[in-house]
Amino acid sequence: MKKLVITGGNRLHGTIKISGAKNAAVAIIPAVILSDGVCLLENIPDIEDVNIIDEILCKMGASVRHINKTSLEIDPSGIKEPVATYDLVRHMRASSYLMGALLGKYLKADVALPGGCDFGVRPVDQHLKGFGILGATHCVADDMIKIKADKLVGNHIYLDVVSVGATVNVMLAAVKAEGRTTIENAAKEPHIVDLANFLNSMGADVRGAGTDVIKINGVKTLRGTTYSIIPDQIEAGTYMAAVCSAGGDVLIQNVIPKHLESITAKLREMGVTIEEFDDSVRVICNGRLKRCNVTTMPHPGFPTDMQPQIAALLTTADGMSMVNEAVWDNRFRYVDELRRMGADITVDDSLAIVRGVEVLTGTPVKATDLRAGAAMIVAALGARGTTYIEDIRHIERGYEDVVGKLSAVGADIKLIETDDSINRN
Ligand code: EPZ
Repeated sequence: MKKLVITGGNRLHGTIKISGAKNAAVAIIPAVILSDGVCLLENIPDIEDVNIIDEILCKMGASVRHINKTSLEIDPSGIKEPVATYDLVRHMRASSYLMGALLGKYLKADVALPGGCDFGVRPVDQHLKGFGILGATHCVADDMIKIKADKLVGNHIYLDVVSVGATVNVMLAAVKAEGRTTIENAAKEPHIVDLANFLNSMGADVRGAGTDVIKINGVKTLRGTTYSIIPDQIEAGTYMAAVCSAGGDVLIQNVIPKHLESITAKLREMGVTIEEFDDSVRVICNGRLKRCNVTTMPHPGFPTDMQPQIAALLTTADGMSMVNEAVWDNRFRYVDELRRMGADITVDDSLAIVRGVEVLTGTPVKATDLRAGAAMIVAALGARGTTYIEDIRHIERGYEDVVGKLSAVGADIKLIETDDSINRN
């Protein structure tokens, strides 16, 4: 079993280069299915979720060629069957994007019910609502969602919930539909804008991405393109939190500062010095952090994907903080692991009350999901002693070379192979 072993106490100094955005990559790669040509994607992160979606496309008949570590050439012309079975899609939530891409291209999609991080219910009712309004019908049989349409006709879709996935999937289904589609109450995340820019680089007509109203005029064909995806704002935020936990002075390079605004504002509120440049931010943190309150919101609010990492920081801040998870039902499973390190956290439904302690203590913990694993890393870097993090496959889904990036700025972190689970008692 692979584990991360982190010994806290080292302050961090130097530069960390951010990779391409996971949540942009896992939307844009399936979107290539819509193309009638070959697409070259650049700045793709070298992470497990990308490997999974690549494997799915290959098994469906597409050709996926790694030009180098971060560039992929994809030719979807070999796809014969618009079917993605459970053995392919069970590991990853973003496999649901295959529904919109296959429906948009072939007017048919058979996709196994999505997997992905386990925190509360992960519904797709808004995705299916959008497909239905465009003219598709669906049924669920043998754990597969089977969708089809004689044709897709543009229409007006009001999402009941601000949903990244539903916004992505309706965009994918609508770009080749007949006529205009309007998506109201759309998600505004940076990866939604990145997807729209990618689709438009293929010849689509998508306007308004980044606002809550997206208008799409359907086109008949989408050509091959070359496209470089945006940097990962959640990876960047995670490393900003890592510097705040360990203390130090680090330049986080290859970012879009505007995408980090809510994270930067919150860390400044906690007493952190952050200098912004064109494509980087410098994080300087000395001394104890101040307490604060956090409520997660759809973009441009504080991102739910940074909630575990900021909570980890607040466990040693000066005073009591409140963390309100307003996006997901149950995204506090990591709290038990922080408690094992000595954190004082009580959770009541969507609210965590965090009472700052002097310092956490290293111990064996588990990564209960992707961002929970990131929170364990943040906590361990500032803890006294050594922390062993198990189940790091979750972390490998979304963070490229976390050991290399943190070691390069002075963290005492290594990846070990052991034959058993460490005694957690
Ligand atoms: C995306 O998940 C991200 N995943 C998640 O990041 C992120 O936490 C989430 O958006 C919110 O920003 C990817 O982009 C691959 P949603 P998604 O649909 O699309 C409810 C990470 O760590 N909802 O925006 O699944 C849902 O239950 C991952 O990188 C419905 O009710 O999230 C939730 O409460 C974890 N019906 C809320 O909307 C639906 O049909 C937001 O979900 C769809 C969603």
